[in-house]
Amino acid sequence: MIGRLNHIAIAVRDLAAASAVYRDTLGAKVSDPLPQPEHGVTVVFIELPNAKVELLEPLGAGSPIAKFLEKNPDGGMHHICYEVDDIIAARDRLKAQGARVLGDGEPKIGAHGKPVLFLHPKDFCGTLVEIEQI
Ligand code: CO
Repeated sequence: MIGRLNHIAIAVRDLAAASAVYRDTLGAKVSDPLPQPEHGVTVVFIELPNAKVELLEPLGAGSPIAKFLEKNPDGGMHHICYEVDDIIAARDRLKAQGARVLGDGEPKIGAHGKPVLFLHPKDFCGTLVEIEQI
């Protein structure tokens, strides 16, 4: 059901420092920071030949990554995003398999303007999973 790996999201406290690590130490192509107030994060996109890495810094009060950074003060991998062809069919299959879909179960428009859902990490090997309809 899942298709390509779309991105891996890494939560960081200091987006400028993290961008410098990816740009200067790892030699990656790093975008300018893009504030996404509706998602409570500022994002830097890193284009790799086969997938993206997204660096997420909290933006505003009640950012969805604030708690994660309290537990992981050095930052860390926050979620992994797989592409699906049909997000409603994917959701229904996941629920039928007993997986927990976060929120109200209805897809939201994600950071790339496409419908996304998040799946409970306890059901997926301790990893928060995002599915995105491409
Ligand atoms: Co994501």
